[in-house]
Amino acid sequence: MPYAPAELEKPVTVQTLRRMKADGEKFITVALYDAPMAAMAQKTGVEAVLVGDSLGMTVLGYDSTIPVTMEQMIYHVEAVARGNRKSLIMGDMPFMTYATPEQALTNATRIMQAGAHMVKIEGGAWLAETVRMLTDRGIPVCAHLGLTPQSVHKLGGYRVQGRDEEQAGEILDDAAQLDEAGADLLVLECVPASLARRITDIVSMPTIGIGAGRDTDAQVLVINDILGLTETPPKFSKNFLEETGNIPGALRKYAEDVKNGIFPDASHTFE
Ligand code: KIV
Repeated sequence: MPYAPAELEKPVTVQTLRRMKADGEKFITVALYDAPMAAMAQKTGVEAVLVGDSLGMTVLGYDSTIPVTMEQMIYHVEAVARGNRKSLIMGDMPFMTYATPEQALTNATRIMQAGAHMVKIEGGAWLAETVRMLTDRGIPVCAHLGLTPQSVHKLGGYRVQGRDEEQAGEILDDAAQLDEAGADLLVLECVPASLARRITDIVSMPTIGIGAGRDTDAQVLVINDILGLTETPPKFSKNFLEETGNIPGALRKYAEDVKNGIFPDASHTFE
């Protein structure tokens, strides 16, 4: 039966998302930054919201996520938590706030105290010890592989990652090690769909794709892209406001199209 968006009935937990992966039911994630949008996400049945450090660009006008501070993240996590009582709230840890496991523990504590249910960190196997440190102490972790925007200067730009076999193998290995270390979710950004499919099949944690094809366990888009606010939108995004004409409608259409396997299609996908 086609999916029709409805308000979340009860709070979404890590266990809810694991169960959805096991049942082959896709979940919806939106990166957003304020209370009214967070409330609308809850009404639309969006299972997870991400207070992304993309707010550096989408809200604060920086040209990367690198200048974003802990104080800015905390301010926006608190706003989202006030607007939404049911979606699982993930809070991004900003650039260089988790360079060591101890530093990660101190800063993740602050994001959780601001109202997040999980923190997100960007990077590969070098973060396995940090994932253990946080998850052993009761802080769920979302890992982030592929295009990791905080490393833009190391990567040489915002480009698709894992296109050759060697790099794909490294990302696959990173995913396996983070899964083994106890990560709870994994964002895969701008990787070929075939690689995202392989990773989704081998890891126990649910995967959330953005520019990673349709075979991940969930999709995430940035609210500014959904609403057509981005001057040069990325290939993997879609302006849902264009066809719906209002904000609640755009969010509903995004949710419907993901759940019904319509979004993303080949035009939003890298191979
Ligand atoms: O910061 C962010 O919004 C993100 C998503 C694009 C995955 O990391």
